[in-house]
Amino acid sequence: MAQEHIIVDRRDGVLELRFNRPEKKNAITNAMYGVLADSIFAAANDPGLRAILFTANGDFFTAGNDIADFAATAGGTVDGQPRHVVRFLEACIRAEKPLVAAVQGAAIGVGVTMLFHCDLVYVAENAKLSTPFIDLGLVPENASSLTIAARIGHARAFAMLGLGEPLLGRDAVACGVANAAAPAGEVEARARAAAQALAAKPAEALRLTKKLMRDPATLIARMQEEGAIFAERLQSDEARAAFAAFLTRR
Ligand code: COA
Repeated sequence: MAQEHIIVDRRDGVLELRFNRPEKKNAITNAMYGVLADSIFAAANDPGLRAILFTANGDFFTAGNDIADFAATAGGTVDGQPRHVVRFLEACIRAEKPLVAAVQGAAIGVGVTMLFHCDLVYVAENAKLSTPFIDLGLVPENASSLTIAARIGHARAFAMLGLGEPLLGRDAVACGVANAAAPAGEVEARARAAAQALAAKPAEALRLTKKLMRDPATLIARMQEEGAIFAERLQSDEARAAFAAFLTRR
């Protein structure tokens, strides 16, 4: 199923990773994280791939982590399977090849926090970026307690993380989260063109430039610090109640 839910493709030197679970708003399951992580790590050693594009089918980029999987997480496993999310987050943070995102619809949770590890982000004008961790009894992940405030300042970051206020497409551009906003139907083509332009650049100069501009060690340390608290919070009464409310709401 995971292979169906993440379509992996390569075009003109770009690895395209497409969320394809639109009936579930592209919520990301453990198995999907596994495919994403494996694909990104494999691309690191593939000289034919020079950039990575995240894109999606449907009206959501992704509604974030699958909540049933949150509820089924215990220690390092999800339903008894190894937990792949951390490998995915690390793959994004450590990626030496540029990451480009086409956010053609709404994004929630990790669908937003991953954008702060992307090098170019294109959003739909009507995109809505939300990080409702607190409402789920959780804390920020993916180093987002650091990255969001660093990019947009504490006050706006706290409105997102503390109040759960969404950031809308054009505002995401205005505050430096995204490069450009476009009509939803044009976002993917715009992002793909940018990824292909990167793929055509001198690869080593591009790799060195990204390396100079990013600091994975600090981000990994913060991700691990958050991850330890997040794992505890997944078992908390607040989180359990929120997951149960979502999973039984119909
Ligand atoms: N995990 C698991 N399933 C999810 C999901 C998620 N994060 N987000 C959406 N879905 C599923 C819904 O359960 C529903 O499944 P069903 O048709 O089998 O009941 C399907 O996707 C469509 O979602 P629905 O809620 O009917 O659509 P909507 O347009 O009314 O609302 C959302 C869409 C995304 C706003 C709403 O589903 C939502 O709040 N999801 C949770 C988002 C979230 O908190 N993510 C975790 C962030 S850390």
